[in-house]
Amino acid sequence: MRHLRTLDDLTVDQIERLLVRADSQGSYITRETPPQTVANLFFEPSTRTKCSFEMAQKELGLHSLHFDVEHSSVQKGETLYDTVKTLESIGCKAVVIRHPMDAYYKQLEGINIPIINAGDGSGNHPTQSLLDLLTIQQEFLIFQGVNVVICGDIRHSRVARTNANILRKLGAKVSFSGPKAWMDDKITRGKVLSMDEAVELADVMMMLRIQTERHNEEDIWTKEAYHQEFGLTLEREKKMKENAIILHPAPVNRDVELASDLVECERSRIFKQMENGVKVRKEVLAYALNIDVEEEKSYERIV
Ligand code: CP
Repeated sequence: MRHLRTLDDLTVDQIERLLVRADSQGSYITRETPPQTVANLFFEPSTRTKCSFEMAQKELGLHSLHFDVEHSSVQKGETLYDTVKTLESIGCKAVVIRHPMDAYYKQLEGINIPIINAGDGSGNHPTQSLLDLLTIQQEFLIFQGVNVVICGDIRHSRVARTNANILRKLGAKVSFSGPKAWMDDKITRGKVLSMDEAVELADVMMMLRIQTERHNEEDIWTKEAYHQEFGLTLEREKKMKENAIILHPAPVNRDVELASDLVECERSRIFKQMENGVKVRKEVLAYALNIDVEEEKSYERIV
C-alpha cells in the first residue's frame, strides 16, 4: 500500500525523484472514469495543507470528499479506524488525514487504501517537509553542506522533527535555536545556537510557529520578549549571509517569530513554499494512487 505516514515510507531515491518531478510538473494521466475520490479529514485547523491538497486533487482530475468532522459520527464517539473504514467501504481511494494525536496512523492497520499524513500532533508533517525541501533545492540545487538552522518551538513541532531527520539524510548541516525549554535532544542532538550565532551561520533560517495549542503554563512568553530573544528581528536579518533565505511553514505570528516586514522581504520564500505545496501534494497523490506522469523528465541525482 502506497501510504505516506512519515517520510520513512519513501526511500531517499524516491524523495529525490518526487522533488524533481514536482518541480518539472509533467502532465498527469488519469485514466479512471469516473474520477477517483480522495477524502480529506482535518481534525485540526488548516488553511495551507487542506486547501493545497484540494487544489492538487482538482488539478489531477480527482474528486475531493470533504469530511466534516464537526457534523460527523465522530461526535457520537465513532473511532478513527471505523471512520476511515467507512470511507474506504463507500469507495474513497485514499484518505488525507490531519489529527492532533501523535502517530494516529498506527490505529489504521487494516485500512486498504493509502493514508496520506497531513500532520499528526507533534509527530510528523511529511508533505510540509517535501515542500520545504523543494524550496531549498530550487535555491541551492544540492542539500549537501547547506546550513539549515531550525528556530523556535522545536519540541512541539512536527515540522522540525520531520525536517531535521530528512535534511540530515540528504547531507545538510542542521542546527537549532530557541528557548531551552522547547528543545528536544532527540531532535537537536547537541549544541543549540543563540539567534545571533544562527543568523551568521544559516543559509536557510527555518522559523517555526509557536505551537500555543500544545503548551503548558510554563511555556508562556510575552510576544515582545520572545521576539527580542528568539525572533528574526530586522536587525538580525541584516546580519544574514548574502544569499541566505527565510522559510516559515505558516501561519506566521507576525512580530513574534519574525518581524512583520520580513514576511515578504527579498529573502523570504514563505509564499514560494505555499506554491510548492500544491506541486509536491500532486506528486504525493499521484504516487499514492499510481497515476502516471505523461512525460517524465530525465533527472540527475541531487544530493
Ligand atoms: N503549514 C501548515 O501546515 O499550515 P496549515 O496548518 O494552515 O495547513
